[in-house]
Amino acid sequence: MIVLGIECTAHTFGVGIVNNKGEILADQRIQYRPKEGGIRPREAAQMMSEKGADVIASALKEAGVPITDIDAIAFSIGPGLGPCLRTGAVAARYLARKYEKPLVGVNHCIAHIEIGKLLCRLQDPLVVYLSGANTQIIALAKGRYRVFGETLDIGLGNLLDSWGRAMGIPFPAGPKIEELAKKGKKFIELPYTVKGSDLTFSGLYTAAVKAAERYPLEDVAYSLQEVAFTMTAEVAERALAHTEKKEVLLVGGVAANKRLQEIMGAMAEEHGASLHVVPLKYAADNGVMIAWTGLLMYRAGLTTALNETVNPRFRTDQVDVRWVPI
Ligand code: ATP
Ligand code: FE2
Repeated sequence: MIVLGIECTAHTFGVGIVNNKGEILADQRIQYRPKEGGIRPREAAQMMSEKGADVIASALKEAGVPITDIDAIAFSIGPGLGPCLRTGAVAARYLARKYEKPLVGVNHCIAHIEIGKLLCRLQDPLVVYLSGANTQIIALAKGRYRVFGETLDIGLGNLLDSWGRAMGIPFPAGPKIEELAKKGKKFIELPYTVKGSDLTFSGLYTAAVKAAERYPLEDVAYSLQEVAFTMTAEVAERALAHTEKKEVLLVGGVAANKRLQEIMGAMAEEHGASLHVVPLKYAADNGVMIAWTGLLMYRAGLTTALNETVNPRFRTDQVDVRWVPI
């Protein structure tokens, strides 16, 4: 079985092709980069509709597979930015209709989880999903990926990117902040806001912008990381103690951060659990994760009607996870 997957939720148009052994046959991506400021959804969608067909053609070429040999077409159906999601969906529907292939709409967040599980060879981890827009602690319970804790305002990556932007650091600011933080020497008190099993980051953002007026940038970067990562580890720890999972899996772009890995690793160890990090190449958005999750779903008999619309607010816990043993 071979599945082609299209990722198109925000800045990346990615096309991946995988087979049922979990082998990656193709991985093609293009990125929208705004000239300045944040992402402009319509502009991103426009670029993707212009170049999407070429990315699909390159992926088929890379895999050396004619489209007639593809068993199903998967695409990210949500969550994400409406104009981008619709562009990916149009491409997927076109292929499905033209070549009479089944269509599988994939939840983008779940795809981040499934690619992490595949590449780290895990069955049932506690998942800490930290990207630009999303910050969620997730575990499989009674047939669904349940959210045990999440941000109530902005995502952890957005916190870093927004603070970076305020400091004149270009997007994505995460890696640069990590470098700065290594040079930080003094810890500056910043608001630590955990609400039950959830988080908020906007107070921390405002305080960190203010702190930069008085303290060296390195010290603020260091303190910002320490506070934000410790808050995240606290809610992850609560979920780990509750679910008693034996593995912790970090996914999403922020997972690349070494200091974050250190803090999460120490937390997992205290509970006798091991820490795993999705390989960097597959931490950010890509078509392979959509293809692989689409394959798991298709194998479990799940397909999507051609007229089903995208869902920009699709939640991780809305999906019946029928493709893994419960
Ligand atoms: P999603 O749609 O799943 O929310 P996304 O596009 O918002 O995904 P990703 O591509 O998964 O996000 O990750 C991008 C984020 O990761 C950016 O906010 C970026 O600053 C952050 N990031 C990347 N590398 C690092 C790092 N070394 N340390 C901290 N943050 C990082
Ligand atoms: Fe993503």
